[in-house]
Amino acid sequence: MKNRLAKRNSKVSSFYVMELLRLAKQLEAQGVDVIHMEIGEPDFPTPSTIINAGIKHLQSGEVKYTPAAGLPELQNKISSFYLKRYGVSIDQRRIFVTPGASGAFLLAFAVSLNPNEEVLMADPCYPCNSNFATLFGGNTKSIPVDASTHYQLTAEQIKKHWSSTAKGALIASPSNPTGTLIPPEELKKAINAVNDLEGCFYSDEIYHGLVYDQTAQTALMYSDNVFIINSFSKYFGMTGWRIGWLIVPNDFIEATEKLAQNIYIATSTQAQYAALAAFDEDTLSELEDRRLQFAARRDFLYENLLRLGFEIPIKPDGAFYIYANCKKFTDDSHQFALDFLAKEGVAITPGIDFGKYEAHHMLRFSYTTSLDKMTVAMKRLERFIQQR
Ligand SMILES: Cc1ncc(COP(=O)(O)O)c(C=O)c1O
Repeated sequence: MKNRLAKRNSKVSSFYVMELLRLAKQLEAQGVDVIHMEIGEPDFPTPSTIINAGIKHLQSGEVKYTPAAGLPELQNKISSFYLKRYGVSIDQRRIFVTPGASGAFLLAFAVSLNPNEEVLMADPCYPCNSNFATLFGGNTKSIPVDASTHYQLTAEQIKKHWSSTAKGALIASPSNPTGTLIPPEELKKAINAVNDLEGCFYSDEIYHGLVYDQTAQTALMYSDNVFIINSFSKYFGMTGWRIGWLIVPNDFIEATEKLAQNIYIATSTQAQYAALAAFDEDTLSELEDRRLQFAARRDFLYENLLRLGFEIPIKPDGAFYIYANCKKFTDDSHQFALDFLAKEGVAITPGIDFGKYEAHHMLRFSYTTSLDKMTVAMKRLERFIQQR
């Protein structure tokens, strides 16, 4: 039969970690106690205040469509949160509630990217971002980054790699997989560089809130002419609810609204009502407690990986990942991850899931599991390395 798949499918990459997950499941079915350090979602449940708000709304039976841009009350809460947390005031018409940061990315690229236009991104970075650009016929220019720039794009790199087909640049801070933040001065310079080039600046701020030694700055502190992608998934612990938000520059409001109406009509109503409780003081204080637990886990994992001989040139400051160089042990981090899972029952993610640059030497460890489990995982890692 003739190939009926659209050509774009061949450009969309799949996750190698899915193969690891499948093997992990097989091992678990055989009774092996697998420790999951490959997963990019908090192990904590959704805060009960949020769950209760969701239940209360479901019980009202009024689970109808909301406006495409989201419940005005929720847009208002998000806007107030920006004022309180970052001191920036945003017109709430610029805020679109979306099905996760994933929905926000789809909307951002749909509204701004023409076929064959290019988005500059760091390598390594979260792979779906590049696939989203591909879906709209766009291309990604992956720029290798290392610890010298906190694994972040710089204004100089943006200017150097900007071509006639370039449309924008994407910065994710804290980054997945490296957990590193872009320094505020560099963020400002990168935004100015893109604005000078009359491009679009996309700022993925999904790990804001999960920052441990400093405070993250939103791109909105430096310009209104930016796209902000954020989510209730990570910091607010709402991965499965599928809710996030996109903030667009003023001149994109109308077009974004039209697209949101057409693409998904509205984000899940019960998730939006639940999220209204996300900014309550009770919820925020529970999230603060979790943030401190994540910080303790990061310190534990960082110290242990260094002790075992992994290289981590810069201590990650956010998200819940450590991107460690394993060149002391192997030149094939993918095989290393597969063998480690098979022999010791610990799942981690190979570097090839996040790009090409130095990927064969890199492994991403998620600290989305308890200190007790990580203690066992580190003992298993030590034994695994010693037996190689
Ligand atoms: C950097 C980054 N951006 C966006 C997303 C998408 O998250 P969601 O659609 O759950 O909000 C993720 C999820 O892991 C991520 O790590």
